[in-house]
Amino acid sequence: MNRRGSVFATAAALFAASFAVSARQATTSTASTSSTTQAQPAARPGGWTLPPNASDEKNPFAGDPKALEAGKTLFKKQCERCHGPGGKGDGKDADPDVQEDMDLTNPKRAARNPDGVVFYKMWNGRAKPKMPAVKDDLTKDQAWQIVTFVQTLRQKAS
Ligand code: HEC
Repeated sequence: MNRRGSVFATAAALFAASFAVSARQATTSTASTSSTTQAQPAARPGGWTLPPNASDEKNPFAGDPKALEAGKTLFKKQCERCHGPGGKGDGKDADPDVQEDMDLTNPKRAARNPDGVVFYKMWNGRAKPKMPAVKDDLTKDQAWQIVTFVQTLRQKAS
């Protein structure tokens, strides 16, 4: 083989080798895409998962007295053990270290908790400090009913 021929042979061998590698990569990446069909929205580890437009979402039951009653009953069942009967963050399963963050009556926290944000905070829950998600247990209507009730707990800023 002359010099030209051997360069060509080396190039061909390299090409074949790189093809084999990329074929292997293609196989593994196909396998991993199919196992991650349920992509989750990016979130701070342990924190809330809120869609970017959360605060724009409107409560379909705003001002509805029936929804308020239903929400009160659901709050007793799902939320009271941590947030307490009046939402002060003093339920029996409350975390005393974060009681202020759990106080749903604090007027200073009203601005950062519009209806849509409260909805997604409970819908998705959080890992640390732990608040269980309700999306597996409740319908969206039920979650909005709880929002209707929870927003009546907040004291007005004076
Ligand atoms: C296992 C205890 C637990 C349960 C049950 C629970 N929460 Fe929470 N919740 C927490 C904790 C802890 C925080 C504070 C998280 C933090 O550090 O910001 C919190 C925070 C919140 C906040 C945000 C307050 C703010 O100003 O940022 C809202 C709203 C809320 N909870 C609503 C609810 C509702 C409604 C329910 C019932 C569906 C519920 N939670 C059930 C533990 C709980």
